[in-house]
Amino acid sequence: MSLPAHDRCTLPYIICLASIAGLILPGSFGDLVFAGGAAQYLLTAQEKSGKQIYVHGTSPGGRKISAYLGESSVEVPGRTMPCANCHGLDGRGKPEGGVVPSNLTWEALTKPYGVTHPEGRTHPPYTDRALELAITRGLDPAGNKLLNVMPHYQLSQEDLGDLVAYLKRLGKDHDPGLTENSITIGTTIPARADLAGIGQAIKAVTTAFFEEVNSRGGIYNRRIELKINATSDTPITTSAIVKRFIQNEQVFAMTSAFTAGADKELAALMDNLEVPMVGPLTLYPQGGYPLNRHVFYILSGVEGQARALVNFACQRMPVKRAAVLIVYSDDEMAKGVLEAITDQCRKSGCGPPEPYGYPNADSDVPGFAAKLKQTSKSVIFFLGTSREAIALMKEASELRWSPTFYLGAIAGNEIFGAPPSFAKKIFFSVPSSPDDHTRTEEFRDLATKHKLPAHHLGVQRSVYSAAKILIEGLKRAGKDLSREKLIQALEGLYEYPTGVTPAVTYGLNRRIGAMGAYVVTIDLEKKQFLPASGWIDSN
Ligand code: HEC
Repeated sequence: MSLPAHDRCTLPYIICLASIAGLILPGSFGDLVFAGGAAQYLLTAQEKSGKQIYVHGTSPGGRKISAYLGESSVEVPGRTMPCANCHGLDGRGKPEGGVVPSNLTWEALTKPYGVTHPEGRTHPPYTDRALELAITRGLDPAGNKLLNVMPHYQLSQEDLGDLVAYLKRLGKDHDPGLTENSITIGTTIPARADLAGIGQAIKAVTTAFFEEVNSRGGIYNRRIELKINATSDTPITTSAIVKRFIQNEQVFAMTSAFTAGADKELAALMDNLEVPMVGPLTLYPQGGYPLNRHVFYILSGVEGQARALVNFACQRMPVKRAAVLIVYSDDEMAKGVLEAITDQCRKSGCGPPEPYGYPNADSDVPGFAAKLKQTSKSVIFFLGTSREAIALMKEASELRWSPTFYLGAIAGNEIFGAPPSFAKKIFFSVPSSPDDHTRTEEFRDLATKHKLPAHHLGVQRSVYSAAKILIEGLKRAGKDLSREKLIQALEGLYEYPTGVTPAVTYGLNRRIGAMGAYVVTIDLEKKQFLPASGWIDSN
């Protein structure tokens, strides 16, 4: 299979996005009016801290929380025994092994005439103080000893206060954007006029996909309501606008938002508002620690692809040690990729690579080529533009030197102008298969039925898979939906086939669904891209 050389945007969306990533997005935005109405749904800062303790068993202030189990009083870290594990995210309790953890909703705990449990235990209504004693000593308000399945906890007075404050909201704190019969999902499209096509693709595919879901009865009888907003001039204003959008429109979760250019800001915003976001359109997934639990990326972006390319290259090398050069032109993007390549070379046993900065002036390229040739290395990772790569190849070819070139994730059609001595010696990576048409019928059917646009197919595939992953997560999260349950359901996806991307896996510590790439080479004569590898995992 080959790719048509003329249609850059049928290549995975990465190439189309490349031209815009990192740019500030000028655009128009209108009303700056704050609308109220969201506040009653939001937890106070104290309740939010309490929720963290209830759900995760960790202290927002980093203080120690310990749990003591059974008669023997074995001490374990609180995070291994969060309340939600037994009492459920909604406080209604998950019966296990014949033991029924108490209903912890405030109504249940504070029934005016007290509570009689099935096994005969009775007690007056709970007060704040009584709750503290139940948590720390295992006593109910009548002084009865609770079953020792319920651990005792040791935690600071402040954390205990936060936890009790949250217990009063438990079960009532249903997340925004959720009603008996609807779930509000948001997306963000680029405002810039020259990116209008991407915006149309996001809108068309998402609308079509949700219409299908709704026509089949929605998710547990809830219809998906789609709300759309647009980016703004700068990352900061974009972040402010998306924040207002989420709060005013009561957005439960986001799908395939266009975050390129404001990746850091929007990822931080989702974390801050605790809004799950699936499949943002970007080249730069925000990795790093601590993990941002709220953002689920589909593909690995530039760095992950570079790592896959290194794995591919190192495997083809007969002599592995120190055989690699990296040539980079000095820009922000190159830096992260440079580090990723160096790290991956080390892991694959073909490091350490020698880095060389690309010359600033064209007139210096011949000398630069000669210097590289003297290293007698035969593999170059090239992080720069196609024009720069070709200039270097031309000089190398004058010197009768033709090392293998691995290009950073981006290659445009200019690359077909490479000298003939580099035939079969140019490789780059793409995040989803150029010729993998397995199971795409579903996508094609959707396209036909809803008359989806014929442009930006790469973007469309990404948007389609985001919607599909999100819907799968919503289904798995169950009827008693919450953002936390959605996150946990998504974390449970293992090798999930979207039909249009490599299979997607998330986990407690994993937020990039398909970590890796396909390697593509170039037929200089026919001016075609050709697949050179199957899926290469770079996890
Ligand atoms: C390992 C499972 C488990 C964990 C973890 C757990 N509980 Fe319990 N909890 C229980 C069970 C079971 C009961 C019922 C005990 C009984 O009926 O004697 C209970 C009872 C209670 C009660 C007493 C309510 C009543 O009926 O009088 C409170 C309050 C309570 N839990 C709060 C919490 C809080 C807060 C946390 C987290 C800090 C927590 N529990 C963690 C299992 C658990």
